[in-house]
Amino acid sequence: MNHEQISRLAHAGHPIAAPLDDDSVRRLLEHGIPRGDERVLDLGCGGGEWLLRALATRPHLWGEGVDISEVSLTRARDAASTLAVEERLVLHHQDAMDFSSAHSFDLVLSVGAAHAFGGLLPTLAAARKHLAPGGRVLIGDGFWEREPSPAAVEMLGDFADLPTTVDRVVADGWTPVYGHVSTRQELDDYEWAWTGSLASWALDHPADPDSPQGLAVATTHRSEWLRGYRDSWGFVCLVLRQTSDQPAVR
Ligand SMILES: C[S@@+](CC[C@H](N)C(=O)[O-])C[C@H]1O[C@@H](n2cnc3c(N)ncnc32)[C@H](O)[C@@H]1O
Repeated sequence: MNHEQISRLAHAGHPIAAPLDDDSVRRLLEHGIPRGDERVLDLGCGGGEWLLRALATRPHLWGEGVDISEVSLTRARDAASTLAVEERLVLHHQDAMDFSSAHSFDLVLSVGAAHAFGGLLPTLAAARKHLAPGGRVLIGDGFWEREPSPAAVEMLGDFADLPTTVDRVVADGWTPVYGHVSTRQELDDYEWAWTGSLASWALDHPADPDSPQGLAVATTHRSEWLRGYRDSWGFVCLVLRQTSDQPAVR
């Protein structure tokens, strides 16, 4: 199995590919798209779950998603037609770094995809290029809740602590207008769902040649999480406005 196939099985019970529960996603979307008729871009949209939820509850919203995974985009396309929102959703199969558009967007979303841009600030730089005047960014990325072990840094990459992460975002010209720090339960639910869904598939398909690999990947991932980064890694989502993009005070 390749990475995409593993990811599809691992996310079967948790279609948002980040440690957030349904209520958190709903509240973040409410702050990102307060009117309901916005044009939304998701960079690294995966299966399109954020866009699908936004479109399904806002009949005047338009969405576009960009991802390098054709498998994920196919899933997004199928779900969009099941929800009858496909006419308001455009999906682009390409590297999000290279994406360009003739129009700008009222909300640029990018959750759990900062590695595609080389980190949080480069992701914000990419988002800024697509933003309409007065627009918002909804970004989700990791941070260190506690000093990480070298193994945790090796597994997940380098992050800052939460205050430093937010300071960097503010120094880059953004003002957080809402935010959500994933709770212990959201972080744990995501990992149990990831490892549990993949392991369940393997146990349910013992005759499948990929079954042993599925079980081994789930077991390794669970152990790396519990021993390597459960006690140090956190996840934050921020809804941002450009600090200097304010109407002039007269
Ligand atoms: C952790 S998933 C998050 C998916 C989605 N944002 C969500 O929260 O459900 C990261 C996504 O980024 C995508 N990705 C990674 N590198 C990318 C790139 N260079 N351009 C576009 N998408 C990329 C992956 O294919 C994957 O779907």
